[in-house]
Amino acid sequence: MRTTLTIALFLLSALLPVQIAGKHVNDSFRPGALWLDDSGRHINAHGGGIINYKGTYYWFGEHKADTTSSAMVGVTCYSSKNLLDWKNCGVALSVSDDPNSDIVRGCILERPKVVYNAKTRKFVMWFHLELKGHDYSAARYGVAISDKVEGPYRYLRSGRVNPGRYPLNYSKADSAAVCSQYDELMSLKWWTPAWNDAIVKGLFMKRDMESGQMARDQTVYIDDDGKAYHIYSSEDNMTLQIAELSDDYTAHTGRYVRVAASKMNEAPAIFKKDGTYWMITSGCTGWAPNEARMFTAKNIMGPWTQLPNPCTGPKSATTFGGQGTFVLKVKGKKDQFIFMADIWRPNHPSDARYIWLPIDFKNGIPVIQWRDEWRP
Ligand code: GAL
Repeated sequence: MRTTLTIALFLLSALLPVQIAGKHVNDSFRPGALWLDDSGRHINAHGGGIINYKGTYYWFGEHKADTTSSAMVGVTCYSSKNLLDWKNCGVALSVSDDPNSDIVRGCILERPKVVYNAKTRKFVMWFHLELKGHDYSAARYGVAISDKVEGPYRYLRSGRVNPGRYPLNYSKADSAAVCSQYDELMSLKWWTPAWNDAIVKGLFMKRDMESGQMARDQTVYIDDDGKAYHIYSSEDNMTLQIAELSDDYTAHTGRYVRVAASKMNEAPAIFKKDGTYWMITSGCTGWAPNEARMFTAKNIMGPWTQLPNPCTGPKSATTFGGQGTFVLKVKGKKDQFIFMADIWRPNHPSDARYIWLPIDFKNGIPVIQWRDEWRP
């Protein structure tokens, strides 16, 4: 009898995730599986990022609709103490019903990231914004602010980055080369070696000097000294840029660098371990997955060096079917980092799945291995 009971209990415990007192409870990470929130619904927070505030994690992400990738709701927020069980805190930044608003319903609002500014005691949200009806041509950053972590966030503005400012790591020689033959270079056929060379030398950066630099896939990183940086795909997704943010985290200071010119990186995610910065990115293949890339630097403003794909094992050539969005530093654990990625489902956007995998370090180098299931 006792044995039967033990076996029954054992089998029951295997039927996780379970319901306890009406609440949904998860006992492990299952990359790629449905991930239910406290009300039993698949978490809707894509291209997301996480902050820890007063011992609670807050996950912000894009609310995705069933049939369109445009923003019909806004940025959602979920909270958790253990990273497994998430409570739906509702909409942190709502799209607007005002047709004149930059963030009118139907715009494209992607990859939101929230940071906390200890000086102003405000939460600041940065995101990638595309104006409604203009596909991906606006290439703007957007910024919003709130007194409370879960919102509501108040939209401040959108724009391009650092108009009229040159990158800190731009050489006089490259500048002269582009200036002296600007029209000629602009009429070069795309993807030819000569055109690529012009991109490396900053042709598109220069083209966008007046309007400001394009900003698409993006993240925000706060360094140990409290300084914040905006990292984004720029120059028609050809080149990454890293721009310093003001003390209140709501604006750019004008100081920025170009990284991996002409190498086409998206989906940047940054973390730091033992004084070394690591950045994981993807290539540019839209919603289709590709091979992750990794960069490292001793200084966030560079120089950055490229290393091989951090993912290993089967499906590592497509980031296990996903595209990175954030690296989460687990609070209270010195060296625990989680790589967060999205498996996009462009035909059913709300069913996009999450891949969260621990980052291992082999000889000090980050390595990401697939796991069907794991526990923090
Ligand atoms: C991806 C990008 C996504 C979204 C998508 C649109 O490469 O990372 O955030 O912009 O392209 O095709």
